[in-house]
Amino acid sequence: MKTVLVTGASGQLGKCIQKLAEKEDTIDWLFMDSSEIDITSTSDLSMCFGNKQIDYCINCAAYTNVEKAESDKEKAFSINAEAVKNLAEICQKHKTVLIHISTDYVFDGTSTSHYKEDDKTNPINVYGASKLKGEQYIQNTIGYHFIFRTSWLYSEYGHNFYKTILNKAAENATLNITTAQKGTPTNANHLAELLVQIIKEENENYGLYHYSNAGETTWHGFAKEILRVSNKCNEVILNEDNSYKTIAERPEYSVLDKTKLKTNFEVEVASWQDAVLELYNNN
Ligand SMILES: NC(=O)c1ccc[n+]([C@@H]2O[C@H](COP(=O)([O-])OP(=O)(O)OC[C@H]3O[C@@H](n4cnc5c(N)ncnc54)[C@H](OP(=O)(O)O)[C@@H]3O)[C@@H](O)[C@H]2O)c1
Repeated sequence: MKTVLVTGASGQLGKCIQKLAEKEDTIDWLFMDSSEIDITSTSDLSMCFGNKQIDYCINCAAYTNVEKAESDKEKAFSINAEAVKNLAEICQKHKTVLIHISTDYVFDGTSTSHYKEDDKTNPINVYGASKLKGEQYIQNTIGYHFIFRTSWLYSEYGHNFYKTILNKAAENATLNITTAQKGTPTNANHLAELLVQIIKEENENYGLYHYSNAGETTWHGFAKEILRVSNKCNEVILNEDNSYKTIAERPEYSVLDKTKLKTNFEVEVASWQDAVLELYNNN
């Protein structure tokens, strides 16, 4: 039986994996939240990896507050880069396959076509820079790794755009949402399914991949679709608003090319609209 450690297990993606794990009893799951394993602590990591042979580690732990990262650079780099280096080193030492999640924010958004894995990175905010450094540490440390860059994650868990829009709709609020960025929303449950599939198949096509749902939209388009599937279009006023200023700069365009993913894994990539509908119908 394979043993799989999931760090950052109480975050959004960690919870999606936990939900799937209930049906996957051929895997010995170790779900560890930040109070059980702080990935910045080498002693926490040594203790866990010293206890038993871990075959796979899915790292869902991350500093994900893009706005706060701008003034909290040291912490963002400590969790998204330095801790990831420690994790890569201990996985290498124990022959554990490391599965790590990164972001579309490693790009500057100046491209006009879908970003491929080997396109030039140039993060324009601290979060993106810290995540890119984490990727590089992994690539320089351990051969048996998977890094999945994903974008605009949402699910029934945690704080995310999908849940915010549904909550605002329940309050009959007026929503002013930007059309300034183009990207692809990704149902975190679908990403979780892919990660579990890789482990079950013992897939060895290690490397860097892009994964999101298919298609592209703006945050305004995403909000409109959430309201459409939840039949709330008539209860909410949805405006386009590009005057809203954020602390962290965001890439204007960050659609990820998934050709490499489809070549190396047998995976159906649902359209982002179908993925929203599926989440709504399942909850
Ligand atoms: N959310 C998105 O839109 C998005 C987009 C692209 C990529 N990603 C990437 O996808 C991955 C999963 O994101 P998510 O949405 O699931 O994030 P999330 O909900 O914010 O979860 C992150 C988890 O990491 C934990 N954590 C933070 N510092 C830690 C530490 N030092 N040691 C152990 N755990 C720690 C947090 O625990 P506490 O709450 O207890 O601190 C939290 O449970 C991340 O790598 C993220 O960078 C996310």
